[in-house]
Amino acid sequence: MAQILDGKAHADRMLAEVKRGVEARVASGKRPPCLAVVLVGDDPASQVYVRGKVKACQETGITSVEHRLSADASQEEVNGLIDRLNADAGVDGILVQLPLPKGLDSKEALHRIAPPKDVDGFHPLNQGLLLEGLPGLRPCTPSAVMNMLKAYGLELKGQRAVVLGRSEIVGKPMALMLLEEHATVTIAHSRTKDLPAVCREADLLVAAVGRPGLVEGSWIKPGAVVVDVGINRVEDLELATRIFAKEPKKLETLKAKGGVLCGDVRFGEAMEVARAVTPVPGGVGPLTIAGLMMNTLQASV
Ligand code: GUN
Repeated sequence: MAQILDGKAHADRMLAEVKRGVEARVASGKRPPCLAVVLVGDDPASQVYVRGKVKACQETGITSVEHRLSADASQEEVNGLIDRLNADAGVDGILVQLPLPKGLDSKEALHRIAPPKDVDGFHPLNQGLLLEGLPGLRPCTPSAVMNMLKAYGLELKGQRAVVLGRSEIVGKPMALMLLEEHATVTIAHSRTKDLPAVCREADLLVAAVGRPGLVEGSWIKPGAVVVDVGINRVEDLELATRIFAKEPKKLETLKAKGGVLCGDVRFGEAMEVARAVTPVPGGVGPLTIAGLMMNTLQASV
């Protein structure tokens, strides 16, 4: 049986470290770091994520200020709010929760955030610094995953890493961070030929595609480390019966509640082949928020 990489426990350690950093800053006579969270519209998932971020701020002593705009807000209103937050010396970090409602250009909004306040690490300047291997604000999910892999003492140098997914939020920055640690990195995606064979090469497999249960046990090299970034809600019983063959409890939860959360990897199958696996929930999700708190502290220095 594989080891479970406890993302929640590691996130708690990261949050404790941020809290100590905030306390040291306040002890030196400065105000606490301040994160401005911009939420446009009323997407239920985004509301849940924003609540999680605000709660983590409270736990670490970071001040959070929520700015809500209605779903029919114009691009000018969003841009104007970002401009005001950029100019506000009392704000250290700005987070625009994605996705934005239809009709709004998220790239335009993200590019408008002042790079030193870009705690998501999505601004082209911060992405460029990452590409060059220079310090800057880095995307929260991959940087927190790296933080956890190092804390577990997992060797990356010379290892074959396969990143499944090429998003700007996770896949691409994850690949760059693994490369920086001297892994041999492949980015695979929906058009990759013979995806199972490519995945089977991986000593470290990072799945970030948002496809529930895509990665089967047979895709995993025996003894590999598997990081599952996907957070998907499954409601379809036929799909669930296939992907939860080794997780009867998940199937029961779906039948009882009408839906269940799962990752991109078939966790039960992975547990039989891999050396270590992150669960969903309780794996990468809490790490992302901890990464955001780290970035907000960093942005305040
Ligand atoms: N929506 C989904 N993931 C993210 C993220 O990492 N940052 C922001 N701002 N919105 C998201």
